[in-house]
Amino acid sequence: MSEVQKKAIVIGTGSGIGRALAFELSRDGYFVGLTGRDPEKLEKLRAELPGPSLVRQIDLRNTREAVHSLGNLIMQMQGMDLLVVNAGVLFHNSDLDWSLEEETIKVNVLGFAAMADVGCNYFLRRGKGTLAGISSVAGHRGSGRSPAYNASKAFMINYMEGLRQRLAATPIKVVDVRPGFVDTNMIRGRKGLFGVVSTEKAAGDILRAIKKGKRIAYVPGWWAVVMWFFKRLPESLYHFGYRKYIEWDTRPKPGQADRRLS
Ligand SMILES: NC(=O)c1ccc[n+]([C@@H]2O[C@H](COP(=O)([O-])OP(=O)(O)OC[C@H]3O[C@@H](n4cnc5c(N)ncnc54)[C@H](OP(=O)(O)O)[C@@H]3O)[C@@H](O)[C@H]2O)c1
Repeated sequence: MSEVQKKAIVIGTGSGIGRALAFELSRDGYFVGLTGRDPEKLEKLRAELPGPSLVRQIDLRNTREAVHSLGNLIMQMQGMDLLVVNAGVLFHNSDLDWSLEEETIKVNVLGFAAMADVGCNYFLRRGKGTLAGISSVAGHRGSGRSPAYNASKAFMINYMEGLRQRLAATPIKVVDVRPGFVDTNMIRGRKGLFGVVSTEKAAGDILRAIKKGKRIAYVPGWWAVVMWFFKRLPESLYHFGYRKYIEWDTRPKPGQADRRLS
């Protein structure tokens, strides 16, 4: 690792967007900190990356340990210029199973805030740096199918706005990345998706937004227009459209059990 090499840590590189972003950063010359739950997956990724990287197991379901582990990783890497908090879970949970809501809140809310705070405190001590959080267009409206997921993304959006206000007088940047649909395990197999982009395309867009120091970046950019309208839909119209979509999505095929919302 050279003295001037930029260093980035990505929280959640086991699969999907985080994994593609690790490649994008490595190709761009970053020394990359790879984190996730499964050390084997991370070691495999480390072997595939074109540049140097370090691996650390971080499970966001335990925030105390995660805070400690991220601090250690920053020390082990001898610094950090960029922290991307990407990890997240999405469960379809119209039955309101608390264990699923709880895991979503643990990972997407508590885990996100814990990692963001470690990053910002480190950048404050150092006087510079960039935090990027992968929220979602889902953060703009509620969802009867995944209430905790959409609410967790709204939390991230609001939290990052707060951090930008807190850090306004400093050179530290906070980039809120709001993807639409990206082809990962999280959404694979769902019906009615549109404008789905590859993880490589998403990772390229994310790194460009970070380099430009954008406050908010929709991925791809045209989602900004879609969400401008979507945010303004009256709740009654939004619920009507959403319900129609769920009915269509869960309509049983001949010989299949009925999964529709009651
Ligand atoms: N795909 C989309 O259409 C889409 C759209 C908008 C926003 N997003 C957001 O993009 C981010 C990445 O999602 P993805 O689409 O790439 O899905 P994914 O392939 O399921 O990736 C999820 C990532 O989160 C990590 N993760 C999950 N639980 C964790 C935990 N307890 N502790 C630490 N890491 C954990 C996973 O790491 P391990 O494999 O190591 O567990 C994995 O790297 C998420 O925040 C998601 O909400 C995705």
